[in-house]
Amino acid sequence: MEDPPKPKHDHNLLKFPRGFLWGVATSAFQTEGENVYSDWWQWEQKNLPEIDRSKMAANEYYLYEEDFKIAQELNLNAYRLSLEWSRIEPTEGKFVDSEIDHYKKVLESLNKKGFKVALTLHHFSNPLWFAKLGGWANRKSPFYFERFVKKIVPEYKKFVDLWITINEPITYTYLAYRTSVFPPAKKSWWRFLNATLNMARAHKKAYRIIHELVDGAKVGFANNVTSYSAFHEHKLLSNLSAYFANLFSNHFFYKLIGNTNDFLGLNYYMNKYITENSTQSLLPDIVDIKKGQADISDLGWEVFPEGIFKVLMDFSDYKLPIYITENGIASTNDDRRVRFLLSYLKEVYHAIELKVPVKGYFYWSLIDNMELASGFSPRFGLVEVDFKTQKRTLRPSASVYADIAKNNGILHHMLKLLGHSTRVKDVIKEL
Ligand code: BGC
Repeated sequence: MEDPPKPKHDHNLLKFPRGFLWGVATSAFQTEGENVYSDWWQWEQKNLPEIDRSKMAANEYYLYEEDFKIAQELNLNAYRLSLEWSRIEPTEGKFVDSEIDHYKKVLESLNKKGFKVALTLHHFSNPLWFAKLGGWANRKSPFYFERFVKKIVPEYKKFVDLWITINEPITYTYLAYRTSVFPPAKKSWWRFLNATLNMARAHKKAYRIIHELVDGAKVGFANNVTSYSAFHEHKLLSNLSAYFANLFSNHFFYKLIGNTNDFLGLNYYMNKYITENSTQSLLPDIVDIKKGQADISDLGWEVFPEGIFKVLMDFSDYKLPIYITENGIASTNDDRRVRFLLSYLKEVYHAIELKVPVKGYFYWSLIDNMELASGFSPRFGLVEVDFKTQKRTLRPSASVYADIAKNNGILHHMLKLLGHSTRVKDVIKEL
C-alpha cells in the first residue's frame, strides 16, 4: 500500500535583517580577575564569603585572546566588553600607560578578528579613590568620569563601533543605595536620587565628548528593562501600578538625559507582575510568581520570552536603532539555555517583522563569570569555565548560537529544540 501523502510542512527560516549583529556581552570586573584597585574588590574582602569573591574570576585579563577565538569560531560578528576604570586610573588623576596599552591590544585583537565592538565605559565597578570621595553620590562624580572619558576616547576611537557610556545606571544606583547589595550599600533615597542624577550628567558629558572626538560616533547607554504586567488585568489600579513601574524603571533615565542617545541599548532579563499597592509605601507591589508554577532560572528569574517582545514594542516608540545589549539565563541545565535562546530570539524576530529596528543581539555571556553579589554559581555562559583550572568547555547552546549566527536566522528544524524532545509513546504507553 502506498504511504499517505506527507502533510505540507514548508516553514521558512526565521531570517534576520542583513548585517544583524550576533554578539556576546561581558564585563571587566566579572571576568578579568584581580581588579585590586576597584571598590568592588575591597567590598568583597569585607562583605562576601571567600567563595563568592572575584579573585582570579575567569582570568580574562590574560585569556582574552583564547576567548575571542572561541567567539570567532562561533561565527559571531560582534562583541561587547567593558573597560576597568580602576586599572586605567588607579590613583586619582594618574593614568597608567601600560593598562591603556593593554586594552588597546584587547580591542585591536577584536578588530582583527572582524568583530564590531561595543565598548562599555562603566560597568558597575569604580576606582577605590572615586568611591572614597563619595562615589556617584558626590556632585563632582560627573567631572571625574568626564576626565576619564577624555583620556581614553582618543586612544580607543579607531577600534570602537558602539560606545556604551554606563551600564544600567538605575539598577546600579538602586542596588548601591536602596537594596544595598552593591557597595557602598548606603540606604538613602537622597543618595539614590543624587547618584542617579549624577550618572545622567556623566552620560551627557561623555556623549558630548565622544561626539567631539569621533566623527559619526554612535553613543548610548545600556538600560536594564523589565517587562511589567498587571497581575489582575481587569483592575484599573493594577494596570496603573504596572504603568508607573514601567515609566519609572524603564523610561525615567531617558527623560533625564534628553536626546543624548544615538541608539537604545536594552538589557532584558526580568518580567514582573504588578498589583495595586497594599501598603503605604510609594512602590507598587510585585507578585512573587516563584511560589507558583513559573519556569525560573537558577537566580529565580522567570523565563518569559514574550517579555522581550513587549519591551521591544514599547521602546520602538523612540524611533532609534535598538541593540539588545544583554539577554541570557543563569542555568546549569544547558537544555534550558537552548530553549531560552530560541524562544527569546523568536520573539525578537516577531518584533523585527513588525518593523521594530532591532540591529543586534548580545547574549550574556560568552563565558561563565562572577555574578556580582552572587558569586560563581550562576552559570550564564555559552562556554563553561572551570574556575579551578580556567579550562573552557563549549556547551551545546554555543553550537546552537553558532548555527543561528551562521545562518543569520533560525532554521526551521532548530525549532524542534524548543520542545523537551519527549516522544509521545514514552509518555502514553498504550496507544
Ligand atoms: C548586568 C550584568 C549581570 C547580568 C546578570 C546585568 O544586569 O549588566 O553585569 O551579570 O545582568 O545578572
